[in-house]
Amino acid sequence: MADTKPLFSPSLISAKTQEALPEGYKCRPLQRSDYKSGFLDVLRVLTTVGDISEAQWNERYEWMSQRGDQYYLLVIVDESRPVETQIVGTGALLVERKFIHNLGMVGHIEDIAVAKDQQGKKLGLRIIQALDQVAEQVGCYKAILDCSEANEGFYVKCGYRRAGLEMAHYY
Ligand code: ACO
Repeated sequence: MADTKPLFSPSLISAKTQEALPEGYKCRPLQRSDYKSGFLDVLRVLTTVGDISEAQWNERYEWMSQRGDQYYLLVIVDESRPVETQIVGTGALLVERKFIHNLGMVGHIEDIAVAKDQQGKKLGLRIIQALDQVAEQVGCYKAILDCSEANEGFYVKCGYRRAGLEMAHYY
């Protein structure tokens, strides 16, 4: 049971989001058992993931889970596929609590990925819409993200607009 306990309340994902998905697909919060459902493989579409053991996964998952109202990672599953490859897309929302803007909260959209053979089915759009809805419901006044020029058109289609410039300092 603990393995399938959702990372956050599934009620934050609307019925409208579920209905907009292709037949047999479902959007739900990440759960610990997703180590065995292809979650890390989907992230490999985005960037290097590394060789993460189940123990390491569990430790990080637990850490996120204990910060219940800060980490909102969701997945799209195709329930017609074998369990090991059911996850076909994912995205994350991190909620930052500020002093400014009257103790405002900002959503950070991170790590959006759709499996290569599933791209172009509007799954990316549904992930962003679902994360936007979570951000709004938990009280964020905006959501922001960084992306490459190549992905700008995708985020514009999702309702985002260019606002500022990303800077990075790698360690
Ligand atoms: N440039 C312009 N338009 C795009 C792009 C793009 N790169 N990708 C998709 N679109 C358009 C689609 O044509 C579609 O337009 P339409 O409504 O007119 O038909 C609309 O955006 C929605 O597209 P989806 O089908 O929802 O896109 P998809 O499911 O393929 O997901 C994603 C897009 C997430 C970028 C996917 O291609 C992917 O996983 N890429 C590799 C990983 C990646 O780059 N992730 C984003 C990193 S940035 C971050 O995480 C904050």
